[in-house]
Amino acid sequence: MKILLLGANGQVGFELQRALAPLGELVAATRSGTLPGGIACLRADLGDTDSLAAALSAARWDLIVNAAAYTAVDRAEDEPELAQRINAGALGQIGAWAARNGARVVHYSTDYVFDGQGARPCREDDTPTPIGAYGRSKLAGEVALVQSGCAHLILRTAWVYGARGGNFLRTMLRLARERERLTVVDDQHGAPTSSRLIAATSAAILAQWLAGAAPRREHDSGAQWHDGIYNLVASGQTTWCEFARAIMARAVAAGLIPREIEVAPIRTADFPTKARRPAYSVLDTRKLRERFGVCLPDWRRGLDATLGELAEMHAAQAR
Ligand SMILES: NC(=O)c1ccc[n+]([C@@H]2O[C@H](COP(=O)([O-])OP(=O)(O)OC[C@H]3O[C@@H](n4cnc5c(N)ncnc54)[C@H](OP(=O)(O)O)[C@@H]3O)[C@@H](O)[C@H]2O)c1
Repeated sequence: MKILLLGANGQVGFELQRALAPLGELVAATRSGTLPGGIACLRADLGDTDSLAAALSAARWDLIVNAAAYTAVDRAEDEPELAQRINAGALGQIGAWAARNGARVVHYSTDYVFDGQGARPCREDDTPTPIGAYGRSKLAGEVALVQSGCAHLILRTAWVYGARGGNFLRTMLRLARERERLTVVDDQHGAPTSSRLIAATSAAILAQWLAGAAPRREHDSGAQWHDGIYNLVASGQTTWCEFARAIMARAVAAGLIPREIEVAPIRTADFPTKARRPAYSVLDTRKLRERFGVCLPDWRRGLDATLGELAEMHAAQAR
């Protein structure tokens, strides 16, 4: 089994390198063609059709896992065409190659395909109505992959953080060392999901999916466009403010920050950003549980595990 992993330097991509390794011969690809430490790998720029075509034709891939994405939610409002090219155009190209060559594709999408106006966790068959350029580009990527006719899984996740990369957890830890007090929005609801949980769950469901017969193509009669889409987020829900408070309390206990600082709630309206964000984007994971039998732990478990990992990394650096 030859696996092409696109976006290997991202939060999720980094974790997938380890988690997917037991499934086959995994080849990592990044935009620059290098991994941390300057180690050379395959180059695949999803904004450049020639670069992506070269990576796709580099081997007879059985599985393509796409963890690369344009993820700058606010900047996407200023460069929607680039977001569309990377998050949607590239998916059409990957899907077409996979359909032609009998490869399967795993792709990640987002809670931001929803407008956040609902009052219950969003299901895979709820109608997506994104309210920003990033969400629109990610939805267009889902559609492009489905319409390509390749066998695919689209895993929608949310509020991703980990021990590496730019994310809310690491920003909060930095600010805790620099400030006395923080204000954080308290009226957006979601489920913080660690990159490690996403990678481990992906590996578990992939092992089952690959062991089964190739699923029928999504455009076959009777298939719904969302058949291959699954929500993959931690259990439970919180707000950014409550998440920040949990980070502070647990980071002190893990020895990562010297003291807990005050985190005061504010409204989204008091913290204007270029892109609008959904107010309520909790995702319902029942479909993933019923189809693959995976149980997703509460978001606090992932937070503790990630803080533990950061504490180990700090201890190793200090040695
Ligand atoms: N982050 C979140 O909160 C969040 C929430 C919901 C869903 N998701 C989805 O989850 C998936 C993984 O996201 P993540 O959190 O791991 O994102 P991330 O940490 O921002 O990583 C994204 C990766 O994509 C790469 N990339 C960007 N443009 C590229 C291009 N033109 N060609 C090739 N690679 C390119 C980046 O490369 P460089 O390292 O070169 O910049 C980076 O390594 C994405 O599909 C994302 O939409 C993320």
